[in-house]
Amino acid sequence: MLELSNIRAGYDRTPVLHDVTVSVPKDGVAAVLGHNGAGKSTLLRTAMGLIKPKGGTILLDGENITRLAPHQRVARGMAYVPQGQQSFPHLTTAENLQLVADGRKDGKEAIAEALDLFPVLGELSGRRAGLLSGGQRQQLAIARALVTRPRLLLLDEPTEGIQPSVVAEIEETILTLARRGGLSVLLVEQHVGFAMRAAQRYYVLEAGRVTSDGAGGTESEQAVRAALSV
Ligand SMILES: Nc1ncnc2c1ncn2[C@@H]1O[C@H](COP(=O)(O)OP(=O)(O)OP(=O)(O)O)[C@@H](O)[C@H]1O
Ligand SMILES: [Mg+2]
Repeated sequence: MLELSNIRAGYDRTPVLHDVTVSVPKDGVAAVLGHNGAGKSTLLRTAMGLIKPKGGTILLDGENITRLAPHQRVARGMAYVPQGQQSFPHLTTAENLQLVADGRKDGKEAIAEALDLFPVLGELSGRRAGLLSGGQRQQLAIARALVTRPRLLLLDEPTEGIQPSVVAEIEETILTLARRGGLSVLLVEQHVGFAMRAAQRYYVLEAGRVTSDGAGGTESEQAVRAALSV
């Protein structure tokens, strides 16, 4: 459903991605793994249109979106949760969700769906986002993305820096989302076990190049660990 082909991208004069090809299956999960600085976030930013690639093409369900602005990609059903649990810290949980829902005909329903997935956010509706725990902020960030009712979700290290008890909860929710259909996910994740349980395809990125890729599933876990250890 999302095809990134031969992508070259980076910052000013710093090339980061060299000829990267990644494909997200329809209603499935593609996981991108790699060490710090490998270019994983750069890849997601490029997919979302926040960085203009110097080469390569991006197709969304066959449409060439390589030159589209981020908001045009959102209008086509893409949503992006950046690394680091960003929301508006001075707004409450409810206000953060409402901000995304404003102007959407299905806003109320979409918020209800998101709260269904993350019930804790309903209990914390009046609390400022800046006062939430890291795990709660991550749940809010994912919920905000879901309020746009995406068909493709880009998730950048959703469990990074979060206390272990909440990590499992967030992982379960992502698995639930991925399995209920109608949503494809491009997941950047450092936890190999979880990434491989969630994914139908995996890609290991090293210094801006795909050095290993294949079918997801726990049976590929050893291959991924080996690719990451070199
Ligand atoms: N805004 C920026 N300007 C210039 N260089 C950047 C910028 N952001 C990242 N880089 C560089 O691009 C390379 C890839 O960074 P990127 O953030 O994509 O890696 P990553 O795989 O997401 O790493 P991490 O696991 O730490 O999140 C790194 O060398 C980094 O220093
Ligand atoms: Mg990153």
